[in-house]
Amino acid sequence: MNERLESIKDKIERFEIKAKEQVDQYRLQFLSKKGELNDLFEQFKTIPNDQKKDIGLKLNNIKKLAQEKLDEALLIFTESTNKSINNLVDFTLPAETTFSGTRHPLNQVENEIITIFKKLGFVYHEGPEIEDDWHNFSALNFPKNHPARDMQDTFFISEDIALRTHTSSVQVRLMEKQKPPIRAIMPGRVYRNEAVSARANCFFHQIEGIFIDENVSFADLKQTLYYFVQELFGNDVNVRFRPSYFPFTEPSAEMDISCLLCKGKGCNVCKYTGWLEILGCGMIDPNVLKASNIDPEKYSGFAFGMGIERIAMLKFEVKDLRTYFNNDTRFLKQFESI
Ligand code: DAH
Repeated sequence: MNERLESIKDKIERFEIKAKEQVDQYRLQFLSKKGELNDLFEQFKTIPNDQKKDIGLKLNNIKKLAQEKLDEALLIFTESTNKSINNLVDFTLPAETTFSGTRHPLNQVENEIITIFKKLGFVYHEGPEIEDDWHNFSALNFPKNHPARDMQDTFFISEDIALRTHTSSVQVRLMEKQKPPIRAIMPGRVYRNEAVSARANCFFHQIEGIFIDENVSFADLKQTLYYFVQELFGNDVNVRFRPSYFPFTEPSAEMDISCLLCKGKGCNVCKYTGWLEILGCGMIDPNVLKASNIDPEKYSGFAFGMGIERIAMLKFEVKDLRTYFNNDTRFLKQFESI
């Protein structure tokens, strides 16, 4: 028995495990049920009792040795598998670029406009997109059944409720809540039942502004808007005011800026007029102030409203309004902000 033990110990020690497949061969030969060590354990049962202690100790030591060798081999060969996977990764390659999202061009323009007005002390205010007749029309001096309501093709939800057709509704909400002096800028999405084309969409974005205090005049309106366009488009832009009509302002005007492309000489963007229309404005009609319980004898104010898409189209020279809403990243990527 002792000789067999020595010889098996020798065999175990000399068995070289050089590849993954040999780990299993080794295990089968020595440590499996039919392996050589198990065989010895069977024989062990038959030896005389007085030898059992000595032989048993040796046998256990050999089994321990065999098991340790197996564990070590398993460790090496499983690790080396991982190592070979690691080798597939080439750490010298340049890192993959990750693309972060960018602000939508309309958001960029909206933020720019808000920032300019904030410098003049205008505060930010928002209102609901689903509006009642009072805030969208009646309080803004649109009489019931007056043809002026046809200026804006409305999406009605019920007889009295509609998707707001302009952000002017927000000035009413603000005037109801706050008493003058009021100086606010109010951006938001508006809806109109129009045929979709390169120049019109069934929803778009506006920014509304109001300034109400004692002695506010048309001169204040002109100066404020002149400052605004110079900040937005540069110092050499010119402005002109054309008389117009809105139910909620009296007098009303539309403001044009000199064409950004031809600088007023005439081109196909300005239709050879040299001017581009950018907003509507006027002195707030006394009826509008009264409707919100503001005394028109004491206070006066101006208001203005502009389409963000229109300004963005001029600024970025985009010809088709629909491109802003197609979610085509090839288009949107051009406006990556820092
Ligand atoms: N609400 C008008 C529109 O949607 C724009 C507008 C014009 C707003 C004149 C005003 C204003 O505040 O004074 O066409």
